[in-house]
Amino acid sequence: MKIAVAGTGYVGLVTGVCLAEHGHLVTCVDVDEKKVELMKKGVSPIYEEGLPELMVKNMERLTFTTDYASAYRDAEVIFIGVGTPEKVDGSANLKYVYTVAKQIAQSVEKDCVVVVKSTVPIGTNDKVEDFIRSNLVHSVNIDVASNPEFLAQGTAVRDTLHASRIVIGAGNNRCRETLEKVYKTFDSPKLITDRRSAEMIKYASNDFLALKISYINEIANFCETIGANIEDVAAGMGFDSRIGNKFLKAGIGYGGSCFPKDTKALHWLGNYYDQEFKTIKAAIEVNDNQKLKLLKKARQYYPSLEGLQVAVLGLAFKPGTNDLREAPSIVNVGILLDDGASIRAYDPVAAKAFDALYPGKLTYCDQAKEALNGADLCFIFTEWDEVRALTPEDFCSRMKTPIILDGRNCYSVESFEARKVVYDSIGRKTVNTLF
Ligand code: UDX
Repeated sequence: MKIAVAGTGYVGLVTGVCLAEHGHLVTCVDVDEKKVELMKKGVSPIYEEGLPELMVKNMERLTFTTDYASAYRDAEVIFIGVGTPEKVDGSANLKYVYTVAKQIAQSVEKDCVVVVKSTVPIGTNDKVEDFIRSNLVHSVNIDVASNPEFLAQGTAVRDTLHASRIVIGAGNNRCRETLEKVYKTFDSPKLITDRRSAEMIKYASNDFLALKISYINEIANFCETIGANIEDVAAGMGFDSRIGNKFLKAGIGYGGSCFPKDTKALHWLGNYYDQEFKTIKAAIEVNDNQKLKLLKKARQYYPSLEGLQVAVLGLAFKPGTNDLREAPSIVNVGILLDDGASIRAYDPVAAKAFDALYPGKLTYCDQAKEALNGADLCFIFTEWDEVRALTPEDFCSRMKTPIILDGRNCYSVESFEARKVVYDSIGRKTVNTLF
């Protein structure tokens, strides 16, 4: 099928490349000329495992352009995969979705189905359909379908090619049949529903996962208070298939492009309809506090952070990505710098992007070990393999004072027990043989 995809971020680009892998002819549209030039050469603008290889493999079915009019003119299906960032009040900003909708209305010369993949507030698909229909330049039939994505960064290609489910929210048969044709060769279960339910499935899923993380983090904090071990507790809970053993990893809170934004957006929408989501509100509050958990721990050991040398291991919001959106590292580094600490940081892929946030303020190391040299304190924000591979010996031999605050529970507590060290992690016993 002839398909156009608007937006080449995580959602748009991965969708476009995976559709090409399934034999469709795909034109990916973006406003950013530099990005488009890169992609034309087969270079992926995002760090995502397997994506560059798949792009190169399917290059003959992939076109990249800034010329939206030619891309949309005779497409059978147009996917909208642009961002819906949060506004100051927490609601979703739909300006990019509507910009694309307007361009579609002005350009299409053939009947087509417009598919909203971006995460949008419930009811948006109805509005986008009305908007496109009332702005059409040519006399054509346009239907809008909701087809939310559930990909996670780092596993985006696998999550798209072998999705846990393909949700198709369609208003009529033509629309549903077109989407079924698009996904005919995909092996995932398909759920056909109305558009509002499809939009709701996306928010309900993401917010439930965020809630699960905040829940386990609260349990972890309490485990510290009462002397239990969160890993055993989570393992014990996970045997119950009603709970499941995934997304029970305690840490310094969730970041990324979805959970923070989607929790706030649904909370905002609930309030708009005078129906507050109290559970989601709690998930957000717990997460905001959790992000500062290591700093609170640090102040137990050093009343003032001024003049300290701090090693920071991991900057990205999770391993496998260079994405820094809502990464716990950002707020922590800001406070550390304000308090007068100097920072040596390590991240295998996100250092350059981080430097743009705090230009020239941090020293970046090529190896995790180097960041530890001479440090008074170490913060671990991301559980990269390179960080997990460090040994207690690395910390003890390189740091001036081996105080390790591990926000991702990278090592076993026991491995530090025979050392002169502070090893303080999340929801587990602290090893303190220093003070
Ligand atoms: C998430 C959803 O997984 C995906 O389905 C949705 O489409 C987009 O949002 P993503 O943000 O890429 O994907 O990453 P994910 O792996 O879900 O992790 C999100 C955050 O939660 C990370 O900061 C991670 O460290 C944290 N997390 C995850 C935990 O703290 N504990 C866990 O058990 C799982």
